[in-house]
Amino acid sequence: MSALKIALTKGRTEKQVLPLLEASGIDCTAIRNKQRRLIFNDLPDYHFILAKGPDVLTYLNRGAMDIGIVGSDILEEQHNEQYEMLDLQTGKCHFVLASTPNFDPYQVKRKIIATKYPNITQRYFRSIGEDVEIIKIEGSVELAPLVGLADAIVDIVETGTTLKENNLQVFATLQSVSTRLVVNRLALKQHQNAIQQLITNLQQAIQTEV
Ligand code: PRP
Repeated sequence: MSALKIALTKGRTEKQVLPLLEASGIDCTAIRNKQRRLIFNDLPDYHFILAKGPDVLTYLNRGAMDIGIVGSDILEEQHNEQYEMLDLQTGKCHFVLASTPNFDPYQVKRKIIATKYPNITQRYFRSIGEDVEIIKIEGSVELAPLVGLADAIVDIVETGTTLKENNLQVFATLQSVSTRLVVNRLALKQHQNAIQQLITNLQQAIQTEV
């Protein structure tokens, strides 16, 4: 039986998911001691890569990986063709509309909104019947209203520290986000038992954690 190939979102998601993977019986020592290493294929049952969130789905969609561990923010923003199998109950955060204290969400002019998530932002403003201009930003979105690039931002908030340290306020709370396990459709057919076993182990680990 070949190893299951798992694309894990590097950074915060990786740190929060490693304890769950370990509680599921997977040896993550190499990932914990990784330095700049990105691929971990020494274990017989599970091979891992560490990738940026938006790229995890690309690896999955192209069949280069069997399983992705990625935030629901990415799944909602991108077009996801694969099976979402499990909510790992980690990486919990939520989307907000935020800006400087003098921002008026009811102002009648067409607002400019900066975000890493143009599709989610578009859907939100459509749902409240408002037409806005969206500027796509790749990171540190909080800068945009501070320097006059945008009237407000739509971004994810976890601890709230970044907003607080940049004197930004929340004007609306949008949907919640958490980390999900997503499986490539073909891989699910080819490795059904192994994937089901992994999911069962993870479910037990989640129960113990919460
Ligand atoms: C995310 C998000 C916020 C920050 C919120 O950015 O876009 O900037 O985390 O977290 P907090 O509420 O705990 O402060 P990330 O750290 O992924 O970096 P980026 O903005 O450069 O993408």
